[in-house]
Amino acid sequence: MNVKIFDTPAQVASALARRVADALREKPDVVLGLPTGRTPVAMYAELRRLHAAGEVDFGRAVTFNLDEFAGVDASHAGSFRRFMEQHLFAAVNLAPQRIHFLNGAAADLDAECKRYEQEIEATGGIDLQILGIGANGHIGFNEPGDELVSRTHRVTLAETTRRDNAALFRGDPSRVPREALSMGMGTILKAATLILVAMGARKAPCIERTINGPLTPHLPASFLQLHRRAELYLDRDAASLLTTRSVR
Ligand code: F6R
Repeated sequence: MNVKIFDTPAQVASALARRVADALREKPDVVLGLPTGRTPVAMYAELRRLHAAGEVDFGRAVTFNLDEFAGVDASHAGSFRRFMEQHLFAAVNLAPQRIHFLNGAAADLDAECKRYEQEIEATGGIDLQILGIGANGHIGFNEPGDELVSRTHRVTLAETTRRDNAALFRGDPSRVPREALSMGMGTILKAATLILVAMGARKAPCIERTINGPLTPHLPASFLQLHRRAELYLDRDAASLLTTRSVR
């Protein structure tokens, strides 16, 4: 894995935004896989700024988001779809038909997962997938456990994940849905390039195990070791448990 360590979270965000901007310049119809959460907020702000400055054109790009809560529709204040509208979609020139999202309010959630998987396939696959990591090592909403599901599927969220997402649901973890829909680890690993982003000391133990630990479904992020083009963008705190040797 190609590990890049930056002094500050702001530097991570601007390097990432530049990386996405470069991908858009090289391939204007690039297929992007996008995360939500606290980690990418500053990157999206920088992309909005670059777009406003005429430096980034999303006109031919296609996006697929990683996951969505079950039982919430796109207009729900806690939905990841709303998050993306606020942080990116409303401010850039991405046509609605180029934005792909799991519909957490679909009547048949299993069919919705199949539809999403087929849409990714039909687009020719994801070129550049950006990922955050849960403090418990989850990727997308692939939670640690005895086994992982390869394709897009329904997930039961870990209690820690529900707590971590409480801010989207008026600060009340009990309001966070118990289930979500998520791309599977197999779906994610099919992307041509993966970029895992982590900031802050809370992520440091999982980052160390992601790079140096064994492959295990108890740390879904460890499966990134199997990918031929996986990049890690870390701030100093998230990288604090890595030794020089492991970084090399
Ligand atoms: C969100 C997602 C999650 C987050 C992870 C980290 O779409 O897929 O895996 O990336 O929970 O969240 P933050 O960035 O809030 O620490």
